[in-house]
Amino acid sequence: MILVLGSTGKIGRELVPALLDKGARVRALTRDPSRARIDPRAEVAAGDLDAFDPGLLDGVERVFVLTSGHGSDPLSQERTVLKAAAGIAHVVKLSTTGVHFGQTDPISLIHTEAEKAVREAGPDWTILRPGTFMDNRFAWLPAVRGDGVIRVPVGDPASALVHVRDIAAVAATVLTTDGHAGKTYPITGGEALTTRRQVEILGDALGRPLTYVEEPEADARARMLGFGWPASAIDGLFELKRQSAGNEEIVFGTVRDLLGRAPLTFADWAREHAGAFA
Ligand SMILES: NC(=O)c1ccc[n+]([C@@H]2O[C@H](COP(=O)([O-])OP(=O)(O)OC[C@H]3O[C@@H](n4cnc5c(N)ncnc54)[C@H](OP(=O)(O)O)[C@@H]3O)[C@@H](O)[C@H]2O)c1
Repeated sequence: MILVLGSTGKIGRELVPALLDKGARVRALTRDPSRARIDPRAEVAAGDLDAFDPGLLDGVERVFVLTSGHGSDPLSQERTVLKAAAGIAHVVKLSTTGVHFGQTDPISLIHTEAEKAVREAGPDWTILRPGTFMDNRFAWLPAVRGDGVIRVPVGDPASALVHVRDIAAVAATVLTTDGHAGKTYPITGGEALTTRRQVEILGDALGRPLTYVEEPEADARARMLGFGWPASAIDGLFELKRQSAGNEEIVFGTVRDLLGRAPLTFADWAREHAGAFA
């Protein structure tokens, strides 16, 4: 049995069916099973990482550890799960490429500490370090549905964006095949794209041109505050952008090495989600 944390999130909702398709038994954690739409072949378990019930690990050999970082303390959540999971066979942790590059922005620092906890927990471990998700571009949804003008902060780094289905496919392989204990895998897409090029590709998929506009960081901050984002989260985001410039464009071969195929492209992602942007 594999316990999947974050089973209703961007990676988790791709990972659960990928594991089931490989014949694994899956226990999918969510705080609210009545709202969650989880593959019916999985065992759905109600639970909150802020009050982790060790009984969720009964009969479990492997755990996929993912915390969201929104609204609670992800490091203490992960430490609590790892303490309860000390006797299981294998833990697979979702981290970030920021750790690979030694970044000290708030998100990378939390993952650096959480990776240390995973290595010291006792079970075999594997760490997955994805780069920026293509799904982050859903942030452009209101602009695309509105005036078609995508405002991007000056200095936005080119990025080898990764499709969450590729991250999930790597995780499913690591959780169901041998040879991954003690390994750390950075995961990116197959090519770095400037943000301007990403906007063009999305426009092509939608069949209408979108306008790319660079705006001063202060304007971007003001807009984000207007969405109700906390100032500390906005600071963290810009710190991450600053520190990941130059790193984001590095392409890693993990998807091809582990899955034997090319990574999904941003054009694939844009075509897949064109309906949502319409
Ligand atoms: N976005 C990026 O570009 C990027 C890049 C690299 C790494 N990452 C890392 O990816 C991770 C986020 O993955 P994601 O985007 O797939 O997640 P997500 O879409 O934000 O989903 C969060 C998941 O966590 C669950 N969750 C939240 N709080 C919980 C709690 N208190 N107890 C139990 N479950 C809880 C939610 O389940 P319920 O609501 O159903 O309970 C949901 O399934 C973070 O660690 C982030 O640092 C992100």
